[in-house]
Amino acid sequence: MLTTRPRGTSDILPGEVEKWQYLEQVIRRLCREYGYSEIRTPIFEHTELFERGVGETTDIVQKEMYTFRDRGGRSITLRPEGTAAVVRAYLENKLYAGPQPVKLYYTGPMFRYDRPQAGRYRQFHQLGVEVLGSHDPALDAEVVAMAMDLYARLGLKDLELHINSVGCPRCRPVLREKLQDFFRARLDRLCPHCRDRLERNPLRILDCKEERCREAGRGAPTSLDHLCPGCGDHFQAVLKHLDNLGVAYTVDCSLVRGLDYYTHTAFEIIARGIGAQNSIGGGGRYNGLVEECGGPDVPGIGFALGLERILLTMEQQGVVFPRPPKLDVFLATADEAARDRALVLVQKLRREGLAADRDYLGRSLKAQMKYAGKLEVGLVAILGSDELAHGVVSLRDMATGNQEEVPLDRLAEEIKQRCSEVKL
Ligand code: HAM
Repeated sequence: MLTTRPRGTSDILPGEVEKWQYLEQVIRRLCREYGYSEIRTPIFEHTELFERGVGETTDIVQKEMYTFRDRGGRSITLRPEGTAAVVRAYLENKLYAGPQPVKLYYTGPMFRYDRPQAGRYRQFHQLGVEVLGSHDPALDAEVVAMAMDLYARLGLKDLELHINSVGCPRCRPVLREKLQDFFRARLDRLCPHCRDRLERNPLRILDCKEERCREAGRGAPTSLDHLCPGCGDHFQAVLKHLDNLGVAYTVDCSLVRGLDYYTHTAFEIIARGIGAQNSIGGGGRYNGLVEECGGPDVPGIGFALGLERILLTMEQQGVVFPRPPKLDVFLATADEAARDRALVLVQKLRREGLAADRDYLGRSLKAQMKYAGKLEVGLVAILGSDELAHGVVSLRDMATGNQEEVPLDRLAEEIKQRCSEVKL
């Protein structure tokens, strides 16, 4: 146990972490361009927030939450998703009193106790965005387009955008009744959870992962057939805006999201080829959630994208990740006198904004050169007593093998110039 991580978690090691940093860099830029500010909420919240927010009959709340009592006896849950916490923070910090709408984004780990497999983990990471305070269908389209824009910037192709309207509290009672009639006739084919859901929240049966429930749900009444005029108009307006933006989509009346808070627009993005867990993002409107959490009647919309699944898709599609060099220069020393100066010299280079390192294992010069090769450093500065006596250092270009003497006081400048030449 001491040397094994918990199932469904991963270590992101050097070599891999650069891909994450690249992804995070693209994300931050995108969010800034779309007018979003970052929000950081706690990793754990009061359990009740998710029970109320995500919904008591959802798989997430019924089967997947990491819930425990803290030492003060409170029920605490590691966040399985970000939306409920953002809404909580919006209310607690009275963000509704400032200019609206409020556009927020977050990235970070989420926790769900699910059966781990390719693309499904117990600790995974999301980029989430949430907009609070606007009903405008243009915003629905912009939020969807923003997700598609991120995938495009990352070089992903052949994605499927599925979109649906799940209605609102006005049209839902009719659908609820139709679904209850439909599933009552198929009760013996449902799993125990879904039998329980029939009276409490029949819509959830359509999202059950059990094969027998999926089978039983074929041909069930859909929300799209039971939209009230307001929901119908909103949905048509969203589709029109998507058309204007040139965003391709498939209207998918069977799309039900796994969380209870959705109203109106719901969408999901699918990447074929990464296995069964192929939803690389999803979201929608949640116009009742702020009120459900005890706040004013404020509408909301957002999405969350699974970062592991995005990276999987990038790899599967052969996207080449930029690989910035780890170090700008390695300082190799030929003898004791040079070694004594090395610490001061690398510190000086770092103060000049260069990524510099040296040997700490007393290696021979030859072994240091070999080590620098393994680090894939472009430049090695070689320092010995001779160089010290003349106030110079030998700068070797590791790609060409060319070596040149450079005055010690011009070393930083010389390295900077060569690094910029490499980047061009
Ligand atoms: P969600 O569909 O539950 O929505 O999760 C969003 C994305 O997170 C999924 O499409 C998937 O890419 C990723 N994901 C979910 N579970 C796992 C897992 N076990 N392992 C790896 N990746 C996973 C939400 O979480 C909503 N909060 C989205 C939202 C924001 N709706 C409105 N605003």
